[in-house]
Amino acid sequence: MCGIVGYVGRREATPILLEGLRRLEYRGYDSAGLATLSGNTLHVRKRAGRLRELIRLVSERPAPGTLGISHTRWATHGGATDLNAHPHIGGNNLLALVHNGVIENYALLRTQLEAEGFIFRSQTDTEVIAHLIAHYYEGDLLEAVRRALSCLKGTYGLALISPQHPNLLIGARFGSPLVIGLGENEMFLASDPNALIGYTQRVVYLNDGQLCALTAESWDILDRDRAPVQASIHAIDWELEDVELNGFDHYMLKEIYEQPEALENTLRGRLDDTNATAHFGGLNLSPRRLRQVDRIILTGCGTSYHAGLVGEYLFEELSRIPVEVEYASEFRYRNAPIERHTILIAITQSGETADTLAALREAKRKGIPTLSICNVVGSTIAREADGGVYLRAGPEIGVASTKAFTCQVLVLTLLALYFGRMRHLSASQGARIIEELRQLPDLVRQTLSCDEPVRQIAAKYYQVQNFLYLGRQYLYPIALEGALKMKEISYIHAEGYPAAEMKHGPIALVDENTPTVFLVPRSSVFDKVISNMEEIRARGGPIIAVTTQGCEEVASRADDVITIPDAPEYLQPILAVIPLQLLAYHMALLRGCDVDKPRNLAKSVTVE
Ligand code: AGP
Repeated sequence: MCGIVGYVGRREATPILLEGLRRLEYRGYDSAGLATLSGNTLHVRKRAGRLRELIRLVSERPAPGTLGISHTRWATHGGATDLNAHPHIGGNNLLALVHNGVIENYALLRTQLEAEGFIFRSQTDTEVIAHLIAHYYEGDLLEAVRRALSCLKGTYGLALISPQHPNLLIGARFGSPLVIGLGENEMFLASDPNALIGYTQRVVYLNDGQLCALTAESWDILDRDRAPVQASIHAIDWELEDVELNGFDHYMLKEIYEQPEALENTLRGRLDDTNATAHFGGLNLSPRRLRQVDRIILTGCGTSYHAGLVGEYLFEELSRIPVEVEYASEFRYRNAPIERHTILIAITQSGETADTLAALREAKRKGIPTLSICNVVGSTIAREADGGVYLRAGPEIGVASTKAFTCQVLVLTLLALYFGRMRHLSASQGARIIEELRQLPDLVRQTLSCDEPVRQIAAKYYQVQNFLYLGRQYLYPIALEGALKMKEISYIHAEGYPAAEMKHGPIALVDENTPTVFLVPRSSVFDKVISNMEEIRARGGPIIAVTTQGCEEVASRADDVITIPDAPEYLQPILAVIPLQLLAYHMALLRGCDVDKPRNLAKSVTVE
């Protein structure tokens, strides 16, 4: 999951390439590099470590030129070293190339190229692509690229430049995203539109198997046989301020606080008062077809998978449809029997997660309708699904997903309402749900007032080594999500469980050094969870409770209490997750972790 930026045009490339990497650094940050061309000289600058190392190098050794490429790396082959950093050089300074993806047959190709005398300087699979293009080069760079790509097995999103073609920026895509930005006498190439905001709002997405040839004045897209491809131009309506910190210390905190507005954007235009249901513009499946649905598969990875787990409760309660939730990485290889009236809904923030894309394609191969719930307009999963719903959450930069998660859960709620009103929900029931949904953003605003109390709680526990998260029913997936947030940004080991499950083994973990976070708002299972708290307390385990304002029974059983506003059970997941997002955030800060770029992680996992 690397970040790629390319530029050809009227301006000096380096500032644009570096700013683009800054916007994409969340995609991977083991090393960074760039290459520009001035005259017929390639200027290559690359460094292991964070982007600031490259910026420092470029300030000492500028890289001039109005044509260039850059890359921020999440290592897959070879450690994070200067030599393994991209760009990589092909042949005898014939070209510079950056790559996002994994080439599975790189070892054999490397052996063949070394036998021909090509000298390798790195351990990466990417350098094989660079030399392979040089191997095929006979004066037509695009043809050499086309022939080299036909030898590759695996995935790539790549960009390259050559001193032999001083006005040409070439890109190619198979399995890793690449988007063209259309400017005035300048063109851009990037792994995702975040890097283009502020430069252009007109983008064209490459599809698998396509190449692009860009000059300052032109853009051409070709298929594998070099036949021209007609592509549509998408408008990205994100503004520069969407990708700036705007006074927050971290993107994660900014995005936690953006949730009321993000949820309002998700709701906008999707509440149909006349018919007491939800309204969508892009399902692309007829009501008749959707009425026949008798089973739903929800699939995703990580936090998106947790949203699917909430969706299971939502669909079963509001629309009475059986649901199964699948890890995309498992579903893609499982060969699950799928009946005729099943649909698959892929849940994803980035729209580029390799496992989720593969699960979607597996469902399409089996001929069942597919929908996507996605945040990035025009992303691969959004384009390949039969229909879908965009989150409209705005760009999510922090690696730990927050606003995308709550917006995913809200979209699932809207879909459950829509399906429910096709079946057994009455107009008055639908109208009640609509009114409750309209109050949600303000309830979230009220919930954010727990930030300071949560920060104080974090100060008590930030040195522990283990955490437990427990919840029941709608809040069991939130226990999992809260544990994931804690793991991924504070590096503390954390486990989420259904609260009743503790008795079946995990309670052996409880001691005075292992705090348990209980999700225990007022609900149909409130008394059951209170009993579970007693079980933990009896064994000396510290308890942090997330509960509804005014629940006195909880305060007497917990060491620390965080309160959230009262709300119907089906809306509690969106409220209860917010203190857990903030708890993980404050714990990570106190532990000196990099909140927005946690170790070993990347924002968009485009490799399997
Ligand atoms: C979320 O906090 C994680 N960074 C990660 O689990 C993420 O949810 C997962 O990789 C799926 O990404 P997607 O939503 O873009 O498909």
